[in-house]
Amino acid sequence: MSPPPPVSASAEIFQQRCVICHQPDAQGIQGLYPPLADSIGNYVRVKEGRQYLVHVLLNGLEGPVVVKGVTYNGLMPQFAFLSDDDIAAALNEVLTRFNAVLLPGAFQAITADEVKAGRTTTKNSTELMRERAQIYDELKSAAAPGASK
Ligand code: HEC
Repeated sequence: MSPPPPVSASAEIFQQRCVICHQPDAQGIQGLYPPLADSIGNYVRVKEGRQYLVHVLLNGLEGPVVVKGVTYNGLMPQFAFLSDDDIAAALNEVLTRFNAVLLPGAFQAITADEVKAGRTTTKNSTELMRERAQIYDELKSAAAPGASK
């Protein structure tokens, strides 16, 4: 029997930590868990977007968010207990594997240092939703593809 193909560390983190809710194809479950595929790639087009993603992973997120026209009012658990490398890896996996079309040409992988920097402040969900709204506003004024809610 041949061994299974090697699984990258980032794919493994995504598999272990995210798939149970966001699903193996990162499409989520409509109304329950938002899709990350063909969605969050847009966020990294604006400067604050990278930090927003890091902040969500470090603090969790609770409260109504609209993704692709569907409202989610769920609870995203925090993953601050993971290492900086693992958090960066999970985000990079979702970005490069499931958001390739949306990524800006100059996209550079999120680094462990960015995650580390994100740990210096705690963000509650109200603050995170404000960050998120600002990202959508900026995307809208930049007329990025798929920027509309
Ligand atoms: C227990 C279920 C669950 C798990 C596990 C989970 N999430 Fe989430 N995630 C959610 C929910 C629910 C939301 C929406 C929260 C809300 O309604 O405010 C969300 C939101 C998000 C968002 C914000 C999306 C946006 O458009 O602003 C990101 C990014 C995200 N998750 C990434 C991840 C990653 C990466 C992992 C794995 C490390 C993960 N999630 C694991 C349930 C989960």
